Amino acid sequence: MNYTIIAQQVVNLCLGVGKFIRDESGRIQRTDIEEKGLHDLVSYVDRTAEKMLIDELKKMIPDAGFIAEESGTIESAKYRWIIDPLDGTTNFIHKIPLFSISIALQEDGKTVIGVVYEVNQDECFYAWKSGNAYLNGKQIQVSSTNSLSDSLIATGFPYYDFSRLKPYLSFFEYLLKNTRGIRRLGSAAVDLAYVACGRFEAFYEYGLHPWDVAAGAFIVERAGGQCSGFDGSDEVVFGKDILATNTLVHNEIKEKLIEIFKPEVSADV
Ligand code: IPD
Ligand code: CA
Ligand code: CA
Repeated sequence: MNYTIIAQQVVNLCLGVGKFIRDESGRIQRTDIEEKGLHDLVSYVDRTAEKMLIDELKKMIPDAGFIAEESGTIESAKYRWIIDPLDGTTNFIHKIPLFSISIALQEDGKTVIGVVYEVNQDECFYAWKSGNAYLNGKQIQVSSTNSLSDSLIATGFPYYDFSRLKPYLSFFEYLLKNTRGIRRLGSAAVDLAYVACGRFEAFYEYGLHPWDVAAGAFIVERAGGQCSGFDGSDEVVFGKDILATNTLVHNEIKEKLIEIFKPEVSADV
C-alpha cells in the first residue's frame, strides 16, 4: 500500500466533494433538516456527500470496510475507512461557514492516513504513516508554547450527553482562569487540525464518535502532538473523549483533567 498516493487521492476527493457541500450551503433550508437524536442534525447534504465519498473510496481499496456516520459500519479484515462527510452540521444548517470533511484510513486497526478538509477556507490538512503532516502542501507542526497561560484552547460543548457536565464545567472554569481563552468552533475535526498546525495549543471534548476524531487525532500526532483519553489512556478513536495538545503542555493539562474528571468513589465502598 502506497500511503502517499492514497492520501493524495483522498485529498483530491475531498476537494471535489467539498465543492458539492459549498454549493449546497447556499441552498440549504431549515426545512431540509432532520433530527437523528437529541440535538443531532442531518440533511440530504450529509447523506449525499457520504455516498459520493464511499463510491470513490471503494474504487481506491475495493475490499476495505467502512465506519461512516450516516450509513453505518461494514466490517473488513485489514482496511477500513472512518468517515464524517460533514463535521459541523449544526454550523452548516445555521449558515455559519465552518465545517469540514474528515476521512481516516486504518490498517489492522491503526490509522495510517488522515485528511480533514475545511471546506470554506479551502484548507486541507493531511498526514500519512511515517510521513509528516501538511496543510495545502506545506508541512505543519504543533505549537511550541510551553505554558498554559500562553495557550489558546478549543473545546466542544456537551449537547446530548450531560453525564459529565459538572466536571466539564469545573475544568472549563479552570481553563478560563489559566489560559488565553477558549474557543468553540463547532467541528471537532477542524479543532484537531488547528492543534496540528499550532493555532490552538489544545482541544478537548467528551461524547465524541470515531468519525469526529480518527483523522484529526492522527494528523495531530504526525505534526508532533499528543492525544490521550480523559483517563490518560492512548485509545482516542473509539474512546469517546479526547485531549489533543502540543507535547509541551500535554502533561500539565492531562493531570488537571484527570484530577477533575476522575470517577467519584461511592461513599459505601
Ligand atoms: C459534531 C462536531 C462538533 C462536536 C460534536 C460533533 P457533526 O459533529 O464535531 O464540533 O462538538 O461533538 O458531534 O454532528 O457536526 O458531524
Ligand atoms: Ca462529526
Ligand atoms: Ca457529521
